[in-house]
Amino acid sequence: MAIAVLGGAGYIGSHTVQALINKGEEVIVIDNLLTGHKEAIHEKATFYEGDIRDKEFMLSVFKKESISGVVHFAASSLVGESVENPLKYFNNNVYGTQITLEVMKETGVKKIVFSSTAATYGEPKEVPILETTPTNPKNPYGESKLMMEKMMRWCDEAYGIKFVALRYFNVAGASLDTSIGEDHNPETHLVPIILQTALGQREKISIFGDDYPTEDGTCVRDYVHVVDLGAAHVLALDYLSKGNESNIFNLGSSEGFSVKQMIDEARLVTGKEIPSAVSEKRAGDPAVLVASPEKAKEILGWQPQYTDIKTIFETAWAWHVSRPNGY
Ligand code: UFG
Repeated sequence: MAIAVLGGAGYIGSHTVQALINKGEEVIVIDNLLTGHKEAIHEKATFYEGDIRDKEFMLSVFKKESISGVVHFAASSLVGESVENPLKYFNNNVYGTQITLEVMKETGVKKIVFSSTAATYGEPKEVPILETTPTNPKNPYGESKLMMEKMMRWCDEAYGIKFVALRYFNVAGASLDTSIGEDHNPETHLVPIILQTALGQREKISIFGDDYPTEDGTCVRDYVHVVDLGAAHVLALDYLSKGNESNIFNLGSSEGFSVKQMIDEARLVTGKEIPSAVSEKRAGDPAVLVASPEKAKEILGWQPQYTDIKTIFETAWAWHVSRPNGY
């Protein structure tokens, strides 16, 4: 029996595929390669190129292969773009999930682990954020992910398809052997932008606002290592395989770092100057997002090993130095 990883050629998807294969699982990757990279697909995975919204394609794969569970990463994930073009997000993310669930129902696949986000919480009223903190997304991206969670909940009630939604905070870092890493185009995330500046590919890093109600005035985020995230998906599949109920877990470190602290840490790790300048705030940025990952630790047995800022920067830097232009 195999695990189907939708979006397995993307950043988090490819690291999860690596974790599954290291554990001895058979893996099928489905990806339309719009944002994923062929080179990121593990050589031991069976690859099907196609779109999860294409029901005929999805049914053909699910009928041909013996699939025991699905891990679903295949979605658009840029907050800013989602505000400009919400329908893209409802089509790709929500409709894509609709087809996925239809195909799972029709082929009898009963387990799905799903890539959700801290963006479902919006601007939270409490820190650290618990899974019981009210959701209130502030952009169509977060809304689409919350809708996907709710679709799964109703499909559990009606068809017994069990799900685990993993709400990630800020994911960064790269595989320890530098075989895979982060490569987005355009790049919008803080860690790779800092490291591209360290490499001289950007003149400076713009700090988006320094008058937030935080210690140094810059936004605080909770950074989690992508390899630890991959491990969490494996644990979530195990959790469902044991017959447990559907559930939602935060994945973060419980520690917050400001944008300025991140740049300082990158200067230490890279030994580079990394010029920076304060610029306009970015629309929709909450001041502080920090998770409580206690539930994932307690129930899934998740034990992050690489989720400290130094290791995150060291592994991301090794990847950037070895692949300065990405894949
Ligand atoms: N930032 C800068 N300069 C940059 C890029 C980012 O100052 O050039 C700041 C942002 O304003 C923010 C922080 O660095 O305060 C982190 O920004 P990212 O874009 O790396 O990440 P976000 O916190 O905006 O978003 C991430 C994921 C989203 C997810 C969200 C949930 O990328 O998919 O966390 O909180 F929805």
